[in-house]
Amino acid sequence: MHLPTKVTIKEVGPRDGLQNESKFIETQDKVDWINLLSKTGLDYIEVSSFVHPKWIPQLADSEQVLKSINREKGVTYAALVPNIRGLERALTCNVNEVSVFMSASEDHNKSNINKTIDETFPVLKEVVDEALKANVKVRGYVSTVIACPYDGPVSPEQVLKVVDRLAEMGVYEISLGDTIGVGVPTQVESLLSTLLKHFPSNLFAMHFHDTRGTALANVVKSLEMGITTFDSSTGGLGGCPYAKGASGNVSTEDLLYMLSAMNIETGVNQEALIESAFFIEEKIGKKLVSKQMEIARNERSANVDNARTV
Ligand code: HMG
Ligand code: MG
Repeated sequence: MHLPTKVTIKEVGPRDGLQNESKFIETQDKVDWINLLSKTGLDYIEVSSFVHPKWIPQLADSEQVLKSINREKGVTYAALVPNIRGLERALTCNVNEVSVFMSASEDHNKSNINKTIDETFPVLKEVVDEALKANVKVRGYVSTVIACPYDGPVSPEQVLKVVDRLAEMGVYEISLGDTIGVGVPTQVESLLSTLLKHFPSNLFAMHFHDTRGTALANVVKSLEMGITTFDSSTGGLGGCPYAKGASGNVSTEDLLYMLSAMNIETGVNQEALIESAFFIEEKIGKKLVSKQMEIARNERSANVDNARTV
């Protein structure tokens, strides 16, 4: 198996993770968490989104978050923007990079951003043009690349049509989202085989939700096909409130464990990452699902038991 030796992990927990929590996390807690993440060696953190606050009230404090975090040298602090209003808001907070987003399937696009696919392209083009004029890089997301919660299976050709248009607009990278976490490696292979006939592998990042436990298998298939950028979320937080049945992203700690054990370099420190996961777990007030957190919990309680017996 030919694998890359280096991979970039893009942490999306503060955005994808917190947008899906029913509890509003206090602004200062978000800021403290992002500050901890900034010390883990991650060089990309998607910190919030500038969508309509009525649609995602959990992230209504994006301005305050962006303005309050400590910026570590070499870390990109990014945010999601759906339209020009979102971009204007993001630019007032000195965002380093923005992401535009849309779906490969009509009904998820409509339910998520209230427009048809065709109506979305000019809205995003305006964002890309204005962001680039302001010297802010733009990443693109395509959701529902394997299946849509409303329309069912999505073909690679349908994804290609949307990818084509986003690439033409000038986004530097396109993150392909298995939004509801249904995909398996054979489907990832079929999707990437189609896209890689037209575009280089470094145009793509993969964004796997782990609803059915297939995310890491999908990462391995993507690595084999030359992909070197992956989105993930500390603690396995995440999900799209406008995609029925979506659950968390692949956890950053679990992804990191696997990549490190495969001798793939990421520059991220596992212990620091797990500390940041415990921090946000406490603020959210419910147990997070990552395997590495579970192992750390067990080790901690074993150490406490050992200390009691000596
Ligand atoms: P709309 O209601 O169609 O907006 O919502 P509109 O353009 O008709 O404007 C209506 C009003 O909203 C106007 O105010 C605008 O100014 C205001 P009025 O003139 O009536 O006073 N408005 C805004 N205010 C603040 N910030 C803005 C903004 N835009 C308009 N940005 C809209 C359209 C796109 C705004 C809405 O549908 C929305 O916010 N959707 C976001 C949903 C969302 O965040 N979903 C989750 C993120 S995507 C995801 O999780 C998937 C991903 O992780 C990848 C994967 O897993 O697949 C990325
Ligand atoms: Mg997502």
